[in-house]
Amino acid sequence: MTNEALTDISKVQFFDVETLKHPHETYALLREKAPVFHIPMLNMHVVTRYDLVREAIKDTETFSSVVDQFFGGAANQQMIESAPENIQKELRAIYGQMLPQPGTLISVDEPIHTKYRSIVAHLFTVSQIRKAESAVQSVIDKTLDNFAKDGKAEFVTAFANPVPLRIIGDRLGIPEEERVFFDEAATAAAAGLRFNPIDGDEMVRRARLALELQGVLVRLIEEARVDPQEHMISILANGTLEGEDRQLTHGECVSILNQFLVAGHETTSSTFGWGMLMLCQDPEIQSRLRDDPSLVNIFVEEALRLESPVQGLPRKVTKDTELGGYPLKAGELIMLRFGAANRDEGQFECAHMMDLERPKAKAGAQLAFGSGVHFCPGAPLARQELTLGFPALLERMRNIRLSSDHDVPTADPSFLLRNLPELHIEWDLT
Ligand code: HEM
Repeated sequence: MTNEALTDISKVQFFDVETLKHPHETYALLREKAPVFHIPMLNMHVVTRYDLVREAIKDTETFSSVVDQFFGGAANQQMIESAPENIQKELRAIYGQMLPQPGTLISVDEPIHTKYRSIVAHLFTVSQIRKAESAVQSVIDKTLDNFAKDGKAEFVTAFANPVPLRIIGDRLGIPEEERVFFDEAATAAAAGLRFNPIDGDEMVRRARLALELQGVLVRLIEEARVDPQEHMISILANGTLEGEDRQLTHGECVSILNQFLVAGHETTSSTFGWGMLMLCQDPEIQSRLRDDPSLVNIFVEEALRLESPVQGLPRKVTKDTELGGYPLKAGELIMLRFGAANRDEGQFECAHMMDLERPKAKAGAQLAFGSGVHFCPGAPLARQELTLGFPALLERMRNIRLSSDHDVPTADPSFLLRNLPELHIEWDLT
């Protein structure tokens, strides 16, 4: 098969704002007509079918996670070059002061990936997740105390953002006095992954925050080396890289911590938002979850599947090959579209519907957390937050609905992530 077969869908504008806000129709068309869809301008192929996304994830030799265009120094360089000329100098000066950060975890391949993963594995053990349960519940309850009695709220600001941010900050070991700064810096770092157009002032603001955050993290790493604690920063700071018998450098620690703080809140926040929207749009789901709280596990898997927080991530093709019969050349990029694979009818019956009866193994086969060696290490933490969070929300809020004073919420037009920027809701008091 060649890409000529794509001419009938040549009108697909993958990066159009409307497509990014409402991608599911385009995904369906691509899955059917061109599951490996070439975007010549970027020399990138978008992969939308479940079986092909899985096939590519598994073959880490052919499809590498080392994608400079998206991660690390080369991405910063591209950002500087795209900035208005008058601020390029300022941005260069800020980035010039930054500690070089080597690729770790999400942007490296085996065998170095395995070494970083084995350090991170200590952070998300079953016993650690269990031990954290009451602390997670307490953050959820305290956050709810702030607004549950109001009968209405903008849910993203009131709950979906602050809960995961507070929890990841606690787990990392961010001191109380740094929290306001940490929340701002983590939010700015996550916003960077949206690849939305921003003006020069915003570029400078984000770069300054990133530099300052790096300074704070290095200080906390040093403190943890002198006085080890149980939190994530301390475990990383004092861990040893397998086979090399050495501690991580500051740059390696900061690179991993940056991934935690971006991945650790924006994604979970997304599913709180989308899950809440699904509850508002379907009162029957609300009553079924209230009647049988054990259904919350399937509800969370289905919410993750239907509106996957990470819509897609890139891989670099390392040698001439093919995927699903489509030719790919060494050096090209593929974009694994988890959000499209998760609505593939070939894998999930009635893929566009929330199905609380979906067998557990089927629901759990969704790819929102990826798969294979890069499978999200934070998945147990995210699932814990979500499965404790939704029952608490349903207990404190009855008859949850969209606010009639606001427009129907729509997603941010982001290329990689899928978040609701705001969600105005109302409810009856219990
Ligand atoms: C609903 C919540 C979340 C979703 C949907 C999500 C999604 C993902 C996905 C799709 C990947 C795979 C990357 C790849 O294949 O290249 C990933 C990796 C990763 N996630 Fe998550 N994530 C979530 C929560 C978290 C949390 C809470 C943390 C940390 C506390 C975290 C930390 C990471 C890290 C460090 C990686 C890189 C792992 C590696 O490359 O080995 N994520 N995540």
